Amino acid sequence: MSLYTIKHDYKITKSNREKLHGHSTYLLWFTGLSGSGKSTLANLVEIALHEKGISTCILDGDNIRQGINKDLSFSPEDRTENIRRIAEISNLMLNAGLLTLAAFVSPYIKDREGVKQIVGADNFVEIYVNTSIEECERRDVKGLYKKAKKGEIKNMTGISAPYEAPVNPDLEVVTDGHSIEENVKIILEFITKKLK
Ligand code: ADX
Repeated sequence: MSLYTIKHDYKITKSNREKLHGHSTYLLWFTGLSGSGKSTLANLVEIALHEKGISTCILDGDNIRQGINKDLSFSPEDRTENIRRIAEISNLMLNAGLLTLAAFVSPYIKDREGVKQIVGADNFVEIYVNTSIEECERRDVKGLYKKAKKGEIKNMTGISAPYEAPVNPDLEVVTDGHSIEENVKIILEFITKKLK
């Protein structure tokens, strides 16, 4: 509902804030199965960018779902709402001049397309963290796959709910057989070239 609201145009714009921070901003959107390594990679990429003096912000599924999105389940409808809210939050972060890293399973292509629309295609970098379901199940850091296989968790992505892999991501990192350091380097090189 947006009845009776009027958008204000404020004097200080995103570009003013980018100037103050000394760099342009992007949304680095990490998508992949639970346990694929999204948060680990986002964390290490953020550390490296922070050390270079880039102003950053990180949004992560496990954290956000304990706060602003704690009312949402893992049904397809709630996942869509989860991602929509994250997109709006990311947009605020970008407007504040922060390079934003977001790590969410975001299993549906249409939801990720929605993020791109909300933040603008030029600001959106889709990074597919490609780890096979077999490898995620083997790692099972949180024990969720084991629970899902026993039927204790419903709608588990990759087991009882779908994951729609990106068809044409901006960047794809394969984690099986590649070190974390290698993949961090690939992502950093990619984003450093884009940053103005
Ligand atoms: S999303 O699908 O809506 O994008 P999100 O990234 O916020 O998911 O949250 C995923 C995290 O929630 C996983 O890393 C995992 O720790 C936890 N989780 C709990 N239940 C599920 C489930 N049914 N499917 C996927 N992840 C789950």
